[in-house]
Amino acid sequence: MRTLLVTGGAGFIGSHLCEALLARGDRVVVFDNFDPFYAPAIKERNIERARDNPRYRLVRGDLGDEKALAALFAEEPFDGVVHLAALAGVRPSIKNPAAYERVNGLGTVHLLERLRERPIPFVFGSSSSVYGARDRVPFREDDACATPASPYAATKRAGELLAYASHRLFGIPTACLRFFTVFGPRQRPEMAIHKFARQIEEGGAVPMFGDGSTRRDYTYVDDVVSGTLAALDRCAGYEIYNLGGSRMVTLADLIEKIAQALGKRPRIERRPEEPGDVPVTCADVTKAGERLGYAPRVPLEEGLARFVAWFRADRERGTPLEGRG
Ligand SMILES: NC(=O)c1ccc[n+]([C@@H]2O[C@H](COP(=O)([O-])OP(=O)(O)OC[C@H]3O[C@@H](n4cnc5c(N)ncnc54)[C@H](O)[C@@H]3O)[C@@H](O)[C@H]2O)c1
Repeated sequence: MRTLLVTGGAGFIGSHLCEALLARGDRVVVFDNFDPFYAPAIKERNIERARDNPRYRLVRGDLGDEKALAALFAEEPFDGVVHLAALAGVRPSIKNPAAYERVNGLGTVHLLERLRERPIPFVFGSSSSVYGARDRVPFREDDACATPASPYAATKRAGELLAYASHRLFGIPTACLRFFTVFGPRQRPEMAIHKFARQIEEGGAVPMFGDGSTRRDYTYVDDVVSGTLAALDRCAGYEIYNLGGSRMVTLADLIEKIAQALGKRPRIERRPEEPGDVPVTCADVTKAGERLGYAPRVPLEEGLARFVAWFRADRERGTPLEGRG
């Protein structure tokens, strides 16, 4: 039985990953501080399915706490690490870049320090945002990534580079996974699909930033989890992989599709473009396909239908209100 550390395992992607690891017989140790970026009560709900499994251990801790990390590594025989803990989100990073640097930069350093003596596979949750604001699509892993459009993007690129240095110095097998806007059940409440669904469901106006022509590559969370498992299992050398849906949808179309999935009409309110936003994202997933057997399987419409089913069931239970973003 393998023991994996999942930092950020109480979050959106992390909680799904933990369930997949448990389902295939691994042991999972989650390290998460239940950061109040969005309501910690939502994260408590995220881990409900996994927490009673005897192969699941939850450690409430902060990446800033080097002693806690050292103690954890002293007591656990980790076979690999999936590092998802981070402050996510582009816009809030513009308001508070120091916090992003502290968690995403320094926090990653603290974790990598623990792997110096124990060079086990390290999988890093990076982001399509590292590609910056560019028009040429699709994005390939060997494209230059030196023009981040937000502090968040800069800290994610920094994480990739810090991981590279540790790989080179200490031989840590590393896979950096560039996730392209992930969606599905438990999606963070401030992310576009979840926020739009809430606004449409409640009959409120949906703020559309810009003219609705910005395009995004949306990736269903199960596809991201499959790619992450494959990257963990085949982790060798230092590799970067795009994990995307490999298709684009405009913001205006996305709002329409969410409304269709909800069976409602959206009321759109135009707003000026937001700083930090990029015009387009689209993943070239050739490398992940060849090396990891990765293929996005869940089409946008199907993913939205699954999201809406979860969204409605979750609201029936009474969604925790604080910090909904
Ligand atoms: N969701 C996406 O579309 C997307 C896209 C690209 C990259 N990513 C990256 O994937 C990862 C997971 O994203 P998510 O959407 O699941 O976000 P999330 O916010 O739901 O999960 C992140 C988790 O990290 C924890 N955390 C934050 N600061 C911490 C700290 N100092 N110490 C310990 N734990 C801490 C939070 O409590 C949270 O549970 C992040 O690294 C994010 O940057 C996500």
